[in-house]
Amino acid sequence: MDMHIGILGSGLMGSKLGTIFARAGHDVVFSYSHSERKLQRLAREVGGHARAGTPREAAANADAVLLAVHWSRVDDVLAQAGNLSGKVLVSCSLPMNDANTELVLAHTSSGAEALSRKVPGCRVVAAFGTIPSEVLFGVFEARGRKSARPSLVYFGDDAEAKDVAARLIRDVGFDPEDAGPLRMARFAEPFALLVAQLAYETGGSPALAYRFERLEERE
Ligand SMILES: NC(=O)c1ccc[n+]([C@@H]2O[C@H](COP(=O)([O-])OP(=O)(O)OC[C@H]3O[C@@H](n4cnc5c(N)ncnc54)[C@H](OP(=O)(O)O)[C@@H]3O)[C@@H](O)[C@H]2O)c1
Repeated sequence: MDMHIGILGSGLMGSKLGTIFARAGHDVVFSYSHSERKLQRLAREVGGHARAGTPREAAANADAVLLAVHWSRVDDVLAQAGNLSGKVLVSCSLPMNDANTELVLAHTSSGAEALSRKVPGCRVVAAFGTIPSEVLFGVFEARGRKSARPSLVYFGDDAEAKDVAARLIRDVGFDPEDAGPLRMARFAEPFALLVAQLAYETGGSPALAYRFERLEERE
């Protein structure tokens, strides 16, 4: 069954993930940009399965809502989205400071856990925050090939919501790696900064993904 997906934040992550979800057959509503024209253009470029809307419209009939805004915009976009109780909220948002240099929450909490407290009754799953946006289209294009898919960790406290997220992760072309409850974000959010360091600061291509391998144990 194809899903209705609302995109809250149509920047680097939201525009690419929304485009891929639509290409995978889901109905997508792009929302939350400074430019209404940008949202319209995004929807037009994707074609039949996408449209532009307000955050409230994006969330209204959504089977899953993607949160893809800077940490400083989370409260604003959630207020605009309205009641998210019972919804599956997939978040790639990291709790970064304004300069994007530091996590403002870590070790004893995490962005994913803080987000979950902001939206009581909403089923939060953290996913897509541990890879750079630059890799998304490449992973999607490679998804039918025989080579092993890159991994993508996801975590949350609601089993059904995690199944929805895992499906979206597979649709993008990753191998979903269930990393457990939402509190695992305490480990994964710093890991995301390590991935960003490798993607952007080492001189190689930023289109970077990772893969976990389980090998036979040997004595
Ligand atoms: N970029 C990555 O590779 C990456 C990777 C992993 C995790 N993340 C996390 O994912 C989240 C999104 O990152 P991103 O790079 O996609 O951010 P981004 O490119 O800055 O996109 C943010 C979106 O929010 C919109 N927005 C910001 N302020 C607004 C306002 N006042 N009113 C209306 N719309 C507003 C932007 O509008 P415009 O369309 O007008 O710009 C844009 O559509 C962040 O929490 C980040 O830490 C990013």
